[in-house]
Amino acid sequence: MHPLQRHADAPELQEAVADAFCEVALKACEENGVFNVSLSGGSTPKKLYELLSKRDLPWDKTHWFWGDERNVPHDHADSNCRMVREALLSHVPVPESNIHAVPVNVNDPQSAANEYDKTIRDHFQGGPAKWDLALLGMGDDAHTASLFPGTKALDETARAFVANWVEKFDAWRYTLTHPAINSASEIWFLIAGANKRDALAAVRGDAKDVQQFPSQLVRPTRWYITEDAIA
Ligand code: 6PG
Repeated sequence: MHPLQRHADAPELQEAVADAFCEVALKACEENGVFNVSLSGGSTPKKLYELLSKRDLPWDKTHWFWGDERNVPHDHADSNCRMVREALLSHVPVPESNIHAVPVNVNDPQSAANEYDKTIRDHFQGGPAKWDLALLGMGDDAHTASLFPGTKALDETARAFVANWVEKFDAWRYTLTHPAINSASEIWFLIAGANKRDALAAVRGDAKDVQQFPSQLVRPTRWYITEDAIA
């Protein structure tokens, strides 16, 4: 299992990820003329997106996808699309055609998920999703993206993107499936805070239980962790 990249606190972690993000983006654009990234929601990456808005990236060559989304309109306070636009995309010259937001349909999440699944496949010319980078957070319940413990999406292996009923929220979520996440070249967990300590220890522990610890379904290439999240 890849070693932890330990950081004193969230700001230091976010600065380190911002530097690494720029390196991966520039390398992908030099090699392939494009950088495809799948974004995480949540509070930890939000500051990262704000830092990236002040960097000099090949904005016209970067394509932005969401690894998960809430079943709310894009202008809703809980929307990951809104969060990323406010933190980053509205401040930099990204062509609107490079922003691939989940086409949320509050009343029919399955059709919205099917549409986004097609968007992903079309973008990758019908082949498996091949992001250059997938950014992921991890909840204190060991979920990642919107792959929550005990939910149906954990078992999905045919599609790249699905709607997922999450009982504890009494709500639908949208999420990449674990095969789609694992198809990325770089997969980074961003984990900050003492409240993640138990979940991180369980996910990296010897007891394998993907239903209880869904983050174990992911094969990360890097773990960005704050000291207080380490048992
Ligand atoms: C979301 C995220 C979610 C998040 C974790 C960790 O939509 O909320 O995608 O999976 O990454 O809940 O969130 P924090 O980084 O805010 O702790």
